[in-house]
Amino acid sequence: MYICSCFGITEQQVKKHAADGACTPRQIASACKAGTDCGSCVRRIQAILGRGACPRREPADQGQPVFSDFEELEEAA
Ligand code: FES
Repeated sequence: MYICSCFGITEQQVKKHAADGACTPRQIASACKAGTDCGSCVRRIQAILGRGACPRREPADQGQPVFSDFEELEEAA
């Protein structure tokens, strides 16, 4: 199933990038461009990251502002 229809990025691809260390929507965007066009997929990407696809999400678990990247992406859209 496509997460990002603008770039044809699937949930599996997002999970792969997350497993490779992309822990924020911005890092996913750097890896595959997902979220950098219309931005409507950013929430879905955030949800995938939030489900623990990323092995190194300690900052999120420590209450650091993981949504800051999301807001910057929205402003850029
Ligand atoms: S659906 Fe991902 S940028 Fe548009």
